[in-house]
Amino acid sequence: MRFQSLVLILVVLFASAATNQADFVDVNDPHVIEVATFAVTEYNNQHTEAKLVFEKVISGVSNVVDDGTRYSLTLSANNGSSSNNYDTIVLEKSSKNFSLIAFAPISHA
Ligand SMILES: *[C@@H]1O[C@H](CO)[C@@H](O)[C@H](O)[C@H]1NC(C)=O
Ligand SMILES: *[C@@H]1O[C@H](CO)[C@@H](O)[C@H](O)[C@H]1NC(C)=O
Repeated sequence: MRFQSLVLILVVLFASAATNQADFVDVNDPHVIEVATFAVTEYNNQHTEAKLVFEKVISGVSNVVDDGTRYSLTLSANNGSSSNNYDTIVLEKSSKNFSLIAFAPISHA
């Protein structure tokens, strides 16, 4: 499951790099932070055992796709015992209408 999410993220990142239309986001932009907090909240909703607390956006890109704007963000969140980094992809179909495409911890291995 985690591995599949990671593969999906890599595929999407390479795909967006290939189209060469991705723009780096401002990690302090309130809209970007809203996207990131949505991702964490949605992940917690989908995983009842998860109690992640959003900390900050580390980096990210956005690009316009057929069905909206896709945000690929790296964020940090606290899982109750430590801070970890996560890669997430959120699609904003229309203003503030978000859906979580992928969310996976970044391996420190
Ligand atoms: C939090 O993350 C750390 C490091 O990945 C892990 O060792 C720990 O088990 C996690 N704790 C919870 C409550 O998920
Ligand atoms: C958000 O998107 C979903 C799925 O495409 C749609 O059913 C819903 O009506 C949308 N909500 C708003 C507020 O646009």
